[in-house]
Formats: sequence, structure tokens, C-alpha cells
Amino acid sequence: MIDLHCHIIPWVDDGAESARIACQMAEYSLRNGVDTIVATPHCNLQGARLNYRGKEYTTFFSMFRALLIQHGIPLRVLPGSEVFAHGSNLQSLLEEEQVVTLNHSRYLLVEFNFQTPADELNRLLAMVARYGYVPVVAHPERYSAIQNAPGLAVQWYEKGYVIQLNKGSLLGRLGQTACDTARYLLSSESAHVVASDAHDMRGRPPGFHSLLPLLQEDCSPDYIHDLLVKNPYRIITDQDL
Ligand SMILES: [Fe+2]
Repeated sequence: MIDLHCHIIPWVDDGAESARIACQMAEYSLRNGVDTIVATPHCNLQGARLNYRGKEYTTFFSMFRALLIQHGIPLRVLPGSEVFAHGSNLQSLLEEEQVVTLNHSRYLLVEFNFQTPADELNRLLAMVARYGYVPVVAHPERYSAIQNAPGLAVQWYEKGYVIQLNKGSLLGRLGQTACDTARYLLSSESAHVVASDAHDMRGRPPGFHSLLPLLQEDCSPDYIHDLLVKNPYRIITDQDL
């Protein structure tokens, strides 16, 4: 399985708080059948590290890869980021190509303030698409506009934007409304990917074993394969979905 959204690189954001925790997350992922993780530190999140593309990103990414090798952990880790999209600077970030896409593909993982109104979400996503990227919407089930009108996420799905649900939402760890919204999107087959969005080993751990029984209740075996293997693979290899 491939985990497309994971805050596993230590030192860069509010994810793994030490090299030791990052190694635990990597080993736990492997034990859970995840052989590939796209490392997606926050980008453009005000008040935290900005993680723009460039030397700082590649330095930390290389240090993390070296850490895994040093500890003999055979997890494949690929570069990426989770871009916090807001109106004040998204356009300049895109224009200046200051973003790291998922394994340097056309696919860009974007997140929003949870209270962003629907028309602003639409405007920002259209901007991402206009610059030639395919938006991968991180955890739409956590945004109030989608919780109030999940049909909007279905429209995005139909438009070709990628819908990525969080494991934690489906397991009810991120509130009942996020859980209900995520399960609605799953049952209507309007999601492309489920990812861990892991930050640590306690509250938001990586891996999918705990999720599989729930997926098996709601989804066909083929759809589960699409969510955890086929679609993430097509994204990291820059293919159409
Ligand atoms: Fe995230």
C-alpha cells in the first residue's frame, strides 16, 4: 500500500517530533503493509515552517532518507508537501513554482482553513488547476462547507480533482461530522484515495490495518484497492486516474 499524505519527516513541521518517532512511524507503516510513503510536510502554513521548495526542503528530505538507511528501514519515501491554500499568496506560490508536488508529478496536495466558504474553495482550486496542476484535496470531510454540502466534493470528484480522505476521519478520531461526511463520500464512491495524514505514533499514527475492517464494510474489494494502491500509484507515477 501507498500512503500519500504523511507528516513523517522530523524537524520540519508539527509531525514527527524527533528522529526516533519518525523511525517508529516508518517501521510501523511497514508492519502495516505500507511500503511507500509520500512525505508531505506543511507548506505555507503561517506560524509554522514554510517549507517552500528549495535547498531547505531537499536538505531535510535527504537527511530523512539517510536516517532510514542508517537504521536499515526499507521504506520507500518520496518527496511531496501539503500546501495551505489561501487567497493572499497562493497565486504567487504557483506562479513562482514554490511548491513541491507529490513525487514531482502534476498532482498537488492542498489543504484549506476549515472554515473557508465554498465559493473561495472553488476559486482557489480552479486557480491550482489553471496553473497546470491537478489538485489533490486533502481531507475535504474536515471543511465545514463540505460537511454542510457534501455534494460539492462530489462535483470536484466529477471535475477530476482528487479527493483524499483521512484515515482518522473515517475512524471517528476527528469528530462525528467529519466521520459522517467521509463515510458518505466513501459510500458514494466519490473519493480517490485514503491516506493516514499521520503526525505521530499516538493520536494520529500511520498505517491502515485498523481501517481495513471499516473499509470492508463500506466498499468493494476493487474500490479498496483503488483507494490504497492503484490511485496513489497512478499519482506518484504521474498518470491519469
Ligand atoms: Fe496533513
